[in-house]
Amino acid sequence: NESFSVNREGHLTIGGADTVALAREYGTPLYVMDEGMIRDNCRRYRRAIDEFYGGRGIAAYASKAFSCKEIYRIVQQEGMGVDVVSEGELYTSLLAGFPADKIFFHGNNKSEGELQFAIRQRVGYIVVDNLRELHTLEHLLEREGQEMKILLRVKPGVDAHTHQFIRTGQIDSKFGFALETGEALAAARECAALRRARLVGLHCHIGSQIFEVEPFCLAARRLIGLMGQIRRECGLELGMLNLGGGFGIKYTEEDDPVPYERFMERVSLAIHEAAAAEGLPVPYVVLEPGRSIVGRAGITLYTVGARKEIPGVRTYLSVDGGMTDNPRYALYQSKYEAIVANRAGEPKTETVTIAGRCCESGDLLAEGAKVQPCSPGDILAVLSTGAYNYSMASNYNRVPRPAVVMVKDGKSRVVVRRESLDDLVRNDL
Ligand code: LLP
Repeated sequence: NESFSVNREGHLTIGGADTVALAREYGTPLYVMDEGMIRDNCRRYRRAIDEFYGGRGIAAYASKAFSCKEIYRIVQQEGMGVDVVSEGELYTSLLAGFPADKIFFHGNNKSEGELQFAIRQRVGYIVVDNLRELHTLEHLLEREGQEMKILLRVKPGVDAHTHQFIRTGQIDSKFGFALETGEALAAARECAALRRARLVGLHCHIGSQIFEVEPFCLAARRLIGLMGQIRRECGLELGMLNLGGGFGIKYTEEDDPVPYERFMERVSLAIHEAAAAEGLPVPYVVLEPGRSIVGRAGITLYTVGARKEIPGVRTYLSVDGGMTDNPRYALYQSKYEAIVANRAGEPKTETVTIAGRCCESGDLLAEGAKVQPCSPGDILAVLSTGAYNYSMASNYNRVPRPAVVMVKDGKSRVVVRRESLDDLVRNDL
């Protein structure tokens, strides 16, 4: 990976900055993100959209992967849209100056208050999940005297092979209108009768950390088929196709994702063919990558503490963070690579279980991880933690959330301050 290297002291560097020096300067645990790599990933999507759709499309960064003011500024500068999924993400994006008209507002149970906020802030698109939401939205728009572009979230009936907790395209999913049962078509028919909510397109998201291209092509074909049906039966011309996110990234050597460019090329082919078959113009395409923008750009630095050998079983290496800053092993048994940052030049000769500091046996970050020889006081870097780590962090055991540091051209700056003990009790009465 071009973002990482080892310097003369044998220390791991990210984006040109010495990770051991970062740990010393800002303390651990610490999230560190390579801004150059994030921007690079944004540009790869933009170039692919230019190449395969003649620029008629946009990548909307799925900010649930990592949300703070600075990331909205960065993706805005890169010409992207954003996907937000709560009033909190929406608020943060607007506070960072993100243009409302490039925001897609998601969620399977948006509250009336959230919808109202989105309307007043003139959010670009609301991705409507269910009929109750559709009716509430129309009612609120009427009251506010406003119009709103909407997409319908459709379950295309595509089963992508990924962890069941992050699979979303199948019929038995809490998200969206089912295609097979006619639910989605019926919803479009209702939209045709509305005056304020204007249906402009369809959305689907089939899951996350997906390596195969075919499920996306299949979903695209099905949604375009539905667009044809909606035109014939409801008289609505839908110009926008939002295929969600979910493009997988490489966490360990076992992962072998297709580069996004090839991915986009094949999906584009499916879209062009399906549109031609339906006699429809090629839709404006929206993608919602989250993990693939920030995942590999982030690492987490920890200080190694206790070491415990269970003879013949395993060696536990405890670090000063854990499931509070990265709950993904506890939730999905996800795999990570780790490097002893102050011995990055040495061969990995140890196999360890990296344990967190929480009062919970399942608080692990990795099992069977290969690392350099490691002792208390060493700095351990867990790689590819840029997505769904900080954004899923908690204060379990009243552990403060770590700071987030952004690195660019060897220089670092804090973009999210470390939580203090006072932050922890701020709302306690
Ligand atoms: N669009 C929609 C509507 C989504 O629901 C998601 C993710 C995305 C885009 C972005 O997907 P990505 O490109 O990041 O795969 N917490 C889990 C991931 C949950 C993803 C939920 N939705 C994890 O840590 O793996």
